[in-house]
Amino acid sequence: MNQTRRKMLKLAGLALAAGAVPGQALAAPAPRKISLEELARGVDAVEGLARNWSAVTARGKSGEVNAMTAGWGGLGNAWKKPVCTVYIGPHYTRKLIDETGRFSVAYFDGAHKRELTWLGTHTGAEEQDKIAKAGLHVADLGGFPAIAEGRYACVCRVLLRHELSARDFVDASIPRDIYGTRGWSVLYCAEIESAWKLF
Ligand SMILES: Cc1cc2nc3c(=O)[nH]c(=O)nc-3n(C[C@H](O)[C@H](O)[C@H](O)COP(=O)(O)O)c2cc1C
Repeated sequence: MNQTRRKMLKLAGLALAAGAVPGQALAAPAPRKISLEELARGVDAVEGLARNWSAVTARGKSGEVNAMTAGWGGLGNAWKKPVCTVYIGPHYTRKLIDETGRFSVAYFDGAHKRELTWLGTHTGAEEQDKIAKAGLHVADLGGFPAIAEGRYACVCRVLLRHELSARDFVDASIPRDIYGTRGWSVLYCAEIESAWKLF
């Protein structure tokens, strides 16, 4: 852990001591809006995402916020827009994404693996205040929620929603090996509306 990170965690600890509630907005430090260039420089969406994971957060039409861990996804460029792709199974977060067509992705740096493992093995369909129970907090990114413990984040608007099926795959080993034991993912390709440095 580098020195800056230690300092920031100490700051976060002070904010908690001052009354911040797990699952609620973290008092400090405030997220900073950044350029797409800075997002792309800060996030390794290939090996980094596979190794360090991300948290996808959605807010349903009633205002309910839920999040899940995601290791699959990417950042790129399509249809003349900056895009973020995620592959979301039949999870509660997906239901909330589909209600509003928006989600955020917070990218981690290897810290908080224990919390992300909990977030990725429990469902908001059964756990009230799932984010708080995972020991994580919600940051406000210009009015949209994201998991505050990530380093970088983006807020996204769905452009394409495609529910995968066996016939989509040219490589038959993926439906056989990956989807043999789980529900099909929906591939969302979403426009990056804003990019953020969380701390
Ligand atoms: C390390 C890790 C990575 C994961 N990556 C994904 C992913 O990319 N896509 C997905 O649909 N589920 C993924 N999951 C599973 C979901 O996070 C998990 O099913 C979660 O409980 C769903 O929560 P929800 O029902 O509250 O939405 C991952 C889980 C872990 C632990």
